[in-house]
This record gives sequence, C-alpha cells and structure tokens, in this order.
Amino acid sequence: MQLSLNGQVALVTGGSSGIGAAVAEALAKAGAAVAINYHSSAEPAEELAKRIQDAGGRAIAVGGDVGDEAAVQALFDRTLEAFGRLDILVANSGLQKDAPVADLSLEDWNTVINTNLTGQFLCARAAIRQFRQQGRDENISRALGKIIHMSSVHEVIPWAGHVNYAASKGGVNLLMRSLAQEVAAEGIRVNGIAPGAIATAINEEVTGDEAKARELLKLIPYKRVGHVDDVGNVAVFLASDLADYIVGTTLFVDGGMCLYPGFEDNG
Ligand code: BGC
Repeated sequence: MQLSLNGQVALVTGGSSGIGAAVAEALAKAGAAVAINYHSSAEPAEELAKRIQDAGGRAIAVGGDVGDEAAVQALFDRTLEAFGRLDILVANSGLQKDAPVADLSLEDWNTVINTNLTGQFLCARAAIRQFRQQGRDENISRALGKIIHMSSVHEVIPWAGHVNYAASKGGVNLLMRSLAQEVAAEGIRVNGIAPGAIATAINEEVTGDEAKARELLKLIPYKRVGHVDDVGNVAVFLASDLADYIVGTTLFVDGGMCLYPGFEDNG
C-alpha cells in the first residue's frame, strides 16, 4: 500500500500559517486537493494556494471563523463547490491568550475555548455529516472519512499561566476520543496530533530568544525545537490508508516533551 492521497480532498482549518500551512502543503504534495481555511488574513492563504497550484496541485483559500456555526457551514459549502467531496478534515485552528489565572478575563477564556474547542466540534460535525452523505469509495480510501484534531502536549501536561489553552486541549482529547468511539463503526477514523514546541509564530517569543530557547530545550529530551514539517509529515501518514487501523489515538510529535524531562538526570 502506498502513502498517497490521490483523488482525496482535504480541508485544513487555520491553514494560512504555521503548522496548518505545513499540513496543507504536505497533504497537497501527497496528492490531495486542499481547501486552506484562514480567519483574518487572506493573503498568506492565497499565496499558499497559488504555490500548490504552481506545483501542479489543487488548492483554494477560504475565509471563515471556525467558532461561528454559519461560517463553518459556508466553509464546507465552498470546499464542496470547488472539489465536489471531502475525505480529510484537519481541525487545526487554534490560538493562545495567556495570562496568570487571576488576570485572565472571561473574554480571553471564551475566545480560546471557542476557537480551539467549539471550532473543532463544529468542523468535525460538518465533516461527519458530509462523509455520511457522500458514502464510501474504496478506490479513494478504505475509510469513509478521516478527521485529525490538532491538539497539543498540553492535552496532558498542565500549563500554569495558560489555563484556557490547556483546558481547551484537554477538551480536544476527549472530544476526539468520544467522536472516534461514536463514528468508528461507520468507517470514520478520528484521531489527534499533539505537537510539542514547534517553531511558529505562536511561540516565537520563546524560540526567538536565545536564553529562553535554551531553557525550552531542557524540556525536550530530543534537544531540538520541532519544525512544522515534523507535524505535516505525521498528518499525511494519519490521513492515509497506511494508518487505516489507527482510530481514536493521539500521536505526540514532541521530541519527548511528555517524558517528564525533569527526571532525565535520575530525578
Ligand atoms: C503551544 C506552544 C508551546 C508548546 C509546548 C503548544 O501547544 O502552542 O506555545 O511552546 O505547546 O509547551
């Protein structure tokens, strides 16, 4: 069996930058047509779509806030209009609004939960409805459809100063596993990816500062910050038939961050 996504259509939310952009590009390289969703800045998403087209692939950029029910419907409608079907959803949109808990506003709590958790629910629900409607085509994939929830190591590692973010990712874990349990019998594979520290805009304050980056490496047994392609590669594998028996699992892409690195030197 080959690692090919030929003939498949993927929707990647939050695909205009960082991990989402790398995932979109990797899926396109593996043969999928890709709808690249962005929230506010169209230009990078359109540039990425153009780059994929120039390389012989199929891609469109589609705006829309994943936390807004009507916008999610429009996003799926637009994807189907362009490509006629959907095989892979990568629910990737996510953001951080960090503050010590006593200073954390309700607004920043709600913003993070709305995008990171409610947005993943809305997109997964729309994808499941679409998979059911279009039916299975074994020439395209063994599964009826695939959903990948972009989580974080903070679905298991508590994170002081980031309770909204950690709560959203903990929620993503049980959203993903409960959904996987609910729809597996129909042939829908729901899984998650939990990146650790990946060099993107979300954490450039740390990765871009030498002293802070040195401190960060103490938390990574593999002793390097991740690259967005580390996540893109895993998304391609999880979406492909090579991963056909992987159901309801989170793949951690974290250089070992979850291995209690504080115990590295015998504790
Ligand atoms: C966060 C990053 C952080 C990493 C490891 C990610 O989910 O978005 O800001 O560096 O987890 O702590």
